[in-house]
Amino acid sequence: MAVPPTVCRPVCLDDFEAIARTKLGQNAWDYYATGANDMQTLHDNREAFSRLRLRPRVLRDVSTVSTKTSLLGRSIASPICIAPSAMQCMADSDGEEATAKAAAAFDTAMVLSTYSTTALEQVIHHSNGHNPYWFQLYLYQNRPVSQELIQRAERAGYQALVLTVDTPVIGRRLADARNKFQLPRPWRLANFPKDLRIVTASERAALLANGITKDTPLIDNKILSNRADAGLTWTECIPWLRSVTGLPIILKGVLTREDAELAVLHGCNGIIVSNHGGRQLDGVLAAIDALPEVVAAVRGQIEVYMDGGIRKGTDVFKALALGAKAVFLGRPVLWGLAYNGEQGVKEMLQILHDELELAMALCGCATIEAITPQYLQQTPELKSRL
Ligand SMILES: Cc1cc2nc3c(=O)[nH]c(=O)nc-3n(C[C@H](O)[C@H](O)[C@H](O)COP(=O)(O)O)c2cc1C
Repeated sequence: MAVPPTVCRPVCLDDFEAIARTKLGQNAWDYYATGANDMQTLHDNREAFSRLRLRPRVLRDVSTVSTKTSLLGRSIASPICIAPSAMQCMADSDGEEATAKAAAAFDTAMVLSTYSTTALEQVIHHSNGHNPYWFQLYLYQNRPVSQELIQRAERAGYQALVLTVDTPVIGRRLADARNKFQLPRPWRLANFPKDLRIVTASERAALLANGITKDTPLIDNKILSNRADAGLTWTECIPWLRSVTGLPIILKGVLTREDAELAVLHGCNGIIVSNHGGRQLDGVLAAIDALPEVVAAVRGQIEVYMDGGIRKGTDVFKALALGAKAVFLGRPVLWGLAYNGEQGVKEMLQILHDELELAMALCGCATIEAITPQYLQQTPELKSRL
């Protein structure tokens, strides 16, 4: 996908968004860009970063700055990783494959959405042999469907499962409702059988009434009408996952100390503090504001990551200062894809990486480990969260 000569070369992540806006159709743009209801949380995810102020230290040797870190014991070149976002082929025809190649080139981690438009086996094929790929999961009432996905992910070489827990039902996204959003042809949800149909609740009821049973994948996947098993509980869901997989389990969508403690108690291996990019419950606090209480609650027993609103190197720095082991990017990846496919995602990652290095140098931190809460202004509001 060539870049039109009229479009400037992006120099920051907001430029990628502006360019993507000009390239995507309304249906795809709205699906990617908007959030739930009044989009308070969507906006707050970004604004909350600007409320945090940095406290740089000077006269430190920052002639060499290293962003190297690790995820679940596996080294990665940078704490900037890729969040699962559905249906990437709407942004670029190579979709998740382009993203996977960019992740490999950067030696960083990619989480693949269950609702990818490229089959999970095809995506991990682009690994550089070392960079982590994790598989994001929604659990279905029909557990064999979930189990098969887990086994496929395991066989293909994914190294962890990311169970999204903030989506027992789908948030109300007004633009999608107005557009009657549907994945346009020829794209399809490639991790599911070819004959899978996206059914509305009423179509589903009609199919059930006509004798198609809940055990058929067609019905059970219930994509977009009722994604996941809304009946999931701590006592049932994590033990079930443990019974079918040996992979580490990361919970995505935890925002409170209570749930963080439960995640530790149930033996989860990590938490992604996230509000689903403001697409689920509108009015919840910004992910960066929820991070400190989750970090405090897990007391270093498991790794804590965050996503939501990361657009600048200083945002990454602030998240790490508050205890995130790494951050994940949702929409910026889609904007990179829309801008220029694999190359666009690489450029986006490079810019953010360079900005992180700059923030580290200007704050006096030569390594990721050196980044601590002391680099943030301790306002009464922040102190109350730490
Ligand atoms: C278009 C879109 C699709 C998404 N699809 C999924 C998904 O399939 N599974 C999931 O766990 N999160 C999904 N997310 C949420 C992201 O993983 C992530 O939490 C969020 O985008 C981070 O916020 P950011 O976009 O501000 O970086 C999606 C987000 C977007 C924008």
